[in-house]
Amino acid sequence: MKLISYGVELKKKAGVAAANIVEDGMTLGIGTGSTVKHFVEELGRRVKEESLNIKGVTTSFQSKLLCYHHGIPIIDAAMVSQIDLGVDGADEIDYSLNAIKGGGAAHTIEKIVATMAKQFILIGDESKLVDNLGTKFPVPIEVIPEAIALVESKTKDIGADPRIRMATKKDGPVISDNGNFIVDLFFKALQDTSAINNFLLTIPGVVETGLFIDMADQAFIADSDGVQIIKKDWTRTKD
Ligand code: A5P
Repeated sequence: MKLISYGVELKKKAGVAAANIVEDGMTLGIGTGSTVKHFVEELGRRVKEESLNIKGVTTSFQSKLLCYHHGIPIIDAAMVSQIDLGVDGADEIDYSLNAIKGGGAAHTIEKIVATMAKQFILIGDESKLVDNLGTKFPVPIEVIPEAIALVESKTKDIGADPRIRMATKKDGPVISDNGNFIVDLFFKALQDTSAINNFLLTIPGVVETGLFIDMADQAFIADSDGVQIIKKDWTRTKD
């Protein structure tokens, strides 16, 4: 018998619920991470068994490979400016549907693709919901290597503790799909996320932040009871 951990089961529930609202003919933003993996697997099943006709705009090498392995046709993000639906995971989601993303260093392309989406949905297990962003995760920023000392200095000025993300199966820093470093910003108390996001984007060499402010339309959050759908207007339903 195969044992699936509780957390994995919840991620699967959220991913499958999002895949079930996908309609024939849609162009989809395909996020990155362990929750999106289940979304793509279910989409692949629907493509095969229901002849669902969809196209994916991927956000990382990981999601590109997943789509390839599950028979989902891909369009290059560079060739698209609008998509029907974007689905992605998150590290933290607050009750206004603001999020921290970038635990997998993919947030730059994820933000580009999410911005193209007419509807953007975050998926996750219940551990992702927080009262305040920055509770469990730092804010990642993607940084051009030459700007690293400047970025460390500027982010310390606003009270952050910047740490270059180090690889675990390679010596040295994590290198993003775009060839850049990731700096994780630890804050004692993360407040005014919108102002912090705007400030970070003014630092030369910062490519993008993992703060997704006012971007998501809905969040599909799985718990032991099912999948809770949280909408931007604060309404909640069960899948
Ligand atoms: C990728 O860089 C991230 O933004 C992921 O989407 C995020 O870390 C969520 O990942 P999991 O679904 O693996 O928790």
